[in-house]
Amino acid sequence: IAPKIFATRVLTWQKHHGRHDLPWQNPPTPYRVLVSEIMLQQTQVSTVIPYFERWMARFPTLEHLANATEDEVMALWQGLGYYSRARNLHKAARFIIGEYQGKFPTELADIQKIPGVGRYTAGAIRSFAFDAYGPIVDGNVRRLFCRFFGIEGIPSTAAVNNQLWQLAEDYTPATDNRRFAQGLLDLGATCCTPRAPNCKECPLHESCYALKTQQIDQLPTPKQK
Ligand code: ADE
Repeated sequence: IAPKIFATRVLTWQKHHGRHDLPWQNPPTPYRVLVSEIMLQQTQVSTVIPYFERWMARFPTLEHLANATEDEVMALWQGLGYYSRARNLHKAARFIIGEYQGKFPTELADIQKIPGVGRYTAGAIRSFAFDAYGPIVDGNVRRLFCRFFGIEGIPSTAAVNNQLWQLAEDYTPATDNRRFAQGLLDLGATCCTPRAPNCKECPLHESCYALKTQQIDQLPTPKQK
């Protein structure tokens, strides 16, 4: 399938069936996207929402966060787990103030230098905050790509991971990046679910390798136990 057709299907589906009222989407400022993406790394959306709202009430801007004490930051994170994420967010705020005078960097390579920000989060910030080209591969995209493109092998291995990122680069469109990225994540969360996926509702099902070859339950290849 041509990347343009793939993108059009994701975009049209997102418009009608995707999520449009998540708190970090309204408005999707770089700071709000950064905080939400770090919170969402190991935590599900419904758990993150109240933490995100409290965080924004206490630290409405990068400056507020940079000026807070570590104790205040950790207190607001209490209960979310993976506490290095909170320490990194605090460092990230001070880093952006120190290195970029508080003006969020827009280039992918610069965004990746922010503490706690890897390749996925950098792409997500580009897409969601700047509506610019920024390929993303997270657990949802990984599952969708492995099934749709028929990628075999354990996704966490370097060879498979590289293939997935290559596909993300090739299939991410040049425009409508915010909606495309949200569409990929929403498809992974609502159609292309780990178990019993909702293929009938999926805008990509006509060209899905795993569906065509009846390998929905075999892809992505599970880790050896
Ligand atoms: N997970 C990570 N980023 C997300 C987003 N913007 N919307 C929903 N789930 C997400």
